[in-house]
Amino acid sequence: MTTQFTVPDKWKWFTESRYGMFIHWGPYAQYARGEQVLFREHLDHAEYAEQACAWNPEHFDPELWARTAKKAGFKYACFTTRHHDGYCMWDSAYTDYSSAKQAPKRDFVREYVDAFRKEGFRIGLYYSWIDWRLPAYFDGPANDPEGWAKVRDYLHNQVKELLTNYGQIDHFFFDGVWPRNADDLESVKLVETMRELQPGILINNRLGYSEAHDGYRADGGVGAGDSDTLGDFGTPEHLIVVDRKRLWESCQVTTWRLWSHVTGERWRPADYLLDMLCECTEKGGEHGGNLLLNVGPTADGQFPPEFVQRAMEIGSWLEVHGEAIYGSDGGAITEFITRGRQTTRGNNLYLIIRFWDGRPQMRLADLVTKVKGVTLLTTGQRLDFEQIGNELFINGLPKESPSRLFPVIRVECDGKPEANQWGRERLWEGDPARVAAWAREQRGTSVYADGVER
Ligand code: GLC
Repeated sequence: MTTQFTVPDKWKWFTESRYGMFIHWGPYAQYARGEQVLFREHLDHAEYAEQACAWNPEHFDPELWARTAKKAGFKYACFTTRHHDGYCMWDSAYTDYSSAKQAPKRDFVREYVDAFRKEGFRIGLYYSWIDWRLPAYFDGPANDPEGWAKVRDYLHNQVKELLTNYGQIDHFFFDGVWPRNADDLESVKLVETMRELQPGILINNRLGYSEAHDGYRADGGVGAGDSDTLGDFGTPEHLIVVDRKRLWESCQVTTWRLWSHVTGERWRPADYLLDMLCECTEKGGEHGGNLLLNVGPTADGQFPPEFVQRAMEIGSWLEVHGEAIYGSDGGAITEFITRGRQTTRGNNLYLIIRFWDGRPQMRLADLVTKVKGVTLLTTGQRLDFEQIGNELFINGLPKESPSRLFPVIRVECDGKPEANQWGRERLWEGDPARVAAWAREQRGTSVYADGVER
């Protein structure tokens, strides 16, 4: 997969990591109907604020969160410092609408940062531009220049505060630009300051489109404010799509649709979640494809058991099969859709088997690199194989799937795994003459079942 950029060394941790934990948590968790309940249910502002200020999560134990996340195989995390409701999860000098000044009297951002850093995580912060409480945000610079200038300064000051008081911040996730743009927000200028404060930081692309900067509106009007040109990494949301121009990270819920805790929520199964991680890795090439997988802790501060169960299952899988994911060079070397996914790392090709069919032999077509050995990574068992031309036959596979999640076969090659033209181009790509030749040589041109013995 050709990409058009090189990843600077300071960002290599991101491509090595592949797997991050997104944490959506704030006073909205009390309603247990998603992080946007204030707006979506058109609630009364004063009542919401009263409940937010009284919120006091008694079981928030960030060290337990961090240990759980580590066991589950996540390598970095990103925490909502402030969502669209405007409530701040840290001790901000610019407002008293915060966990530090209201009931908890705690700086949740500091506690999160300290606990996760201690467990070796790279640290990410989520910050929403939008604040539903502030009319000037929506009136904007044209209708309320003075009010807008105050709001813009407030936003800039808070971001600077977050990047000044909490040590090294590795990842910054802006969100919620609508109806402003990058010029109103002066996000280009803010990004420069952010880089001065945190030279290594990775900043996402939700910086708004910029008439002045590129005259291009990229968010399609959906409001998150994705820019195609600004920011260090793309943020496909509920989607896994390759960004060829920069790093990318798909953010996904573990549930059905909402990001913060929901009572009576439906949960996606572990194999579905793991497949998303494999898909990001497979599609990512050398440049990430990461998965930022979300958890919405309960109002009293706990990871829901449904989440923990799934995360741990994936974590156990990663303990055995992590080499196919972390620091992988991407995959899909040959066509493999009938069995699962492929990733590579150095000279190894990993076959991540989604459909275990119980047959003793598997045939892999179109791999041209010489194979030196084959291992069923799931059990450590060496497997017999035979390579005839561009066909690889792997023998001695167990009847029962050796794992409830996806078994992985490691194919060790004597060079970087490569495919022939058919394997590279597959269906819907390349020269259709190749398909014509295949049919012509093996079948002729007739629509009838000519030549089939009956
Ligand atoms: C969307 C939602 C927001 C959520 C974010 C995560 O922009 O509006 O609630 O935090 O996605 O990427």
